[in-house]
Amino acid sequence: MRSRINHSGNVIYHVEVKTSTSTYPITIGEPLLDSFKGFFKGYPSVFLLTNDTVFDLYNENLIRQMENDLPFLSHMTVPDGERYKSIETLNGIYEELSSKGLGRDGCVIAFGGGVIGDLAGFAAATFMRGVDYAQIPTTLLAMVDSSIGGKTGINLIKGKNMVGSFHHPKAVFCDLSFLNTLPERQFNAGVMEVIKYGLILDEAFYRFILANRDRVAARDRDVVAYLVYRCCELKAQIVGQDEKDKGIRAILNFGHTVGHALESYTGYRVYLHGEAVALGSLVIIRHLVEKGVLSIQSLEEFKGILGFFELPTSLPSDFEVDAILRHFSYDKKKEHGKSRWVTLRDVGSAEWGQAMDIEEVNSILRGLQRNG
Ligand SMILES: NC(=O)c1ccc[n+]([C@@H]2O[C@H](COP(=O)([O-])OP(=O)(O)OC[C@H]3O[C@@H](n4cnc5c(N)ncnc54)[C@H](O)[C@@H]3O)[C@@H](O)[C@H]2O)c1
Repeated sequence: MRSRINHSGNVIYHVEVKTSTSTYPITIGEPLLDSFKGFFKGYPSVFLLTNDTVFDLYNENLIRQMENDLPFLSHMTVPDGERYKSIETLNGIYEELSSKGLGRDGCVIAFGGGVIGDLAGFAAATFMRGVDYAQIPTTLLAMVDSSIGGKTGINLIKGKNMVGSFHHPKAVFCDLSFLNTLPERQFNAGVMEVIKYGLILDEAFYRFILANRDRVAARDRDVVAYLVYRCCELKAQIVGQDEKDKGIRAILNFGHTVGHALESYTGYRVYLHGEAVALGSLVIIRHLVEKGVLSIQSLEEFKGILGFFELPTSLPSDFEVDAILRHFSYDKKKEHGKSRWVTLRDVGSAEWGQAMDIEEVNSILRGLQRNG
């Protein structure tokens, strides 16, 4: 673990992402304003992308301060929402990048949640055949997942993240103070991604989350810093082994096959991503209990932690399970026409590439409608 104490007495963690094509630092702690400014000073032009919500919250005490110290910084805001991760928004960003004169030696900053990270990253990957970018994530999900690993992209009407590229950021700054303004539902959806890392890779970390649930919910600074740090470290290890998502990186999609089907079935209007992944994970854990791989106690523990963070543990009775199952056919992670599943050998140890009987998923989903 690499960490140090800063002048405010807070722990600052450092993680390095190292792949065959790129190496970059993740800095985790608070406050990090001086670190951002120091990093971007080296660029002759800098373009910050954010959305309306984050702009309103942080214009006064962050964006303006950065603009004061970095005369070559310009910014652009886009409307808030997943539906703006689109080709139309991207086109507007390209127009703005050219009119603001971002050069090939410039840098784009993604300042926001995963939507802004994916949009800004893809714009940077493609503008002038690729310019640098850096991530300043402001949601828990973006800090522990989407800002790391270089996946960038936009949605098409046919599906999420259908157009994109791998383009790694030059640096990631997880300033935990941004989480102070994050609505509870968004925070809890991010906690699901944190729980996921424990389930698939590290049982001790999973037990740490269970044991410290009250402190996590209270956003205790030290506990949240450690959670973000450990998730970044785990994700960096996986991305380092499988940069282009051809093998082990698939395990990060634990719970996502059902999760994506639920998001798509509900038109992305009912569940936040982490909430849908919670239900998707529950389906897998139930399946593993039925197969005798996991104990009933593991299932109860998992349901307990979902309930504690107000994540869903049952399906509304008016959902049409057959229609949900049809949405698996749009799963872009299919191999040879079949969805491949991520399951667990045990808590803290994932495996991938399993085929799963769709009738069994059907029956588990119906079970979740009856009794959760
Ligand atoms: N590239 C990847 O590897 C990867 C991985 C996982 C998810 N994703 C993508 O990430 C996106 C989801 O990201 P998300 O959950 O961060 O959603 P988001 O970007 O939509 O942010 C969620 C909400 O929180 C608001 N918000 C952001 N920061 C805030 C703050 N500090 N205070 C108050 N409000 C704040 C946003 O305006 C938004 O309304 C999806 O598009 C998903 O496809 C990408």
